Amino acid sequence: MEKTSLLEELMQMDEQYVVPTYARQPVVFVKGCGARLWDADGREYIDLLGGIAVDAVGHCHPRVVRAIQQQAEKLLHVSNLFYTEPPFRLAQKLTTVAGMDRVFFCNSGAEANECALKIARKWGKRRQPHSEEIVAVEGAFHGRLFGTLSVTAQAKYQKPFEPLVPGVRIVKRNDIQGLQEAITGRTCGVILEPIQGESGVHPLDVEFIREARKLCDEHGALLIFDEVQTGMGRTGTWFMWQEIGVKPDILTTAKALGGGLPIGACMACGEAAEVLDRGDHGSTFGGGPVVTAAALATIEAIEEENLLENARVMGNYLRERIAEWRKKYPVTEIRGAGLMIGFDIEVPVARQVVPEGLAQGVVVNATGDNTIRLLPPLNLSREEADEGLRRLEIALEHALQKYRETE
Ligand SMILES: Cc1ncc(COP(=O)(O)O)c(C=O)c1O
Repeated sequence: MEKTSLLEELMQMDEQYVVPTYARQPVVFVKGCGARLWDADGREYIDLLGGIAVDAVGHCHPRVVRAIQQQAEKLLHVSNLFYTEPPFRLAQKLTTVAGMDRVFFCNSGAEANECALKIARKWGKRRQPHSEEIVAVEGAFHGRLFGTLSVTAQAKYQKPFEPLVPGVRIVKRNDIQGLQEAITGRTCGVILEPIQGESGVHPLDVEFIREARKLCDEHGALLIFDEVQTGMGRTGTWFMWQEIGVKPDILTTAKALGGGLPIGACMACGEAAEVLDRGDHGSTFGGGPVVTAAALATIEAIEEENLLENARVMGNYLRERIAEWRKKYPVTEIRGAGLMIGFDIEVPVARQVVPEGLAQGVVVNATGDNTIRLLPPLNLSREEADEGLRRLEIALEHALQKYRETE
């Protein structure tokens, strides 16, 4: 009898036992180190996706692994009814690098944004008459819980689950007039991603963000930056607000924060940091000692290895190299900041580039038919970038070739 491979066995189990919410690529990864991954057959890959912006310090960074091991040997969980050391050390460090006053720890990006929305709603209730509306931007992705789904203004995510949370107003990306009409005395919060990630790496105009800040101040609403994807050094500063010089009242992050483990953070400053009281919000697992020890080690690694600088340098390098492809391939727009990069291809081959990339030994992601997104580890080396791009170029060439054959 023919032996089934591990991949076939797992695909069968996926088919039979798992709720089919994911379209997975047919590869089983078994090992990772830095920006490299290995599959079950021992094939090596350059990872230009970094677990969708999670693996900022690379796979299995020794400092993060050691922090997890050391904490796991001592204590895994006791709940937030008691003190353990790592969450408070992390709270101090994270709020310092982020320029915020207080933090609530949770387990994901969606949960961090859910907390932000709750702060805004409670803030608005203090007013007479209450202000309850949240303003969000078209094309944004803030998560898949009911609150965050309601501000994720994309029909494909929202339609099947309506009715959504009421009191949400959506404005078009970079539509300043729309923003001026939407933010009123009824607004309690405005949520935006400085660079929209899931929609294909679309930066918001700084003017649009400045206007949001100004209108929030005029109307007494809270400005929320969702830096779940852009945060933790991805764009070359700890958080994008520090680069663009517009400070939000609430700042959320997740993804890269835990160095590979699940943790989210909702930070706030000024009066926004004093809105939630005991019993207003909570999470059984939020801010557990193992994930917070891992997050602290991640921040220390980013600092010690000068990864903000590397994100800027390597980001510029990747963008320049991809721009050269325009001479040979129908690559159109290249967007992003630091190591958050999206580029468009004139013809709809992006989804085909992904499996072609795997065949060449490079991991990338398509956010749509025409857009490739790169979110590599922030410690990507020049040599890894060159090798990753070499493989990606072949993948692009093969995808274009197949497209032409079927046209
Ligand atoms: C900007 C942004 N916000 C929120 C989320 C949701 O994060 P999570 O999947 O951890 O809930 C994501 C995930 O892609 C994101 O990119």
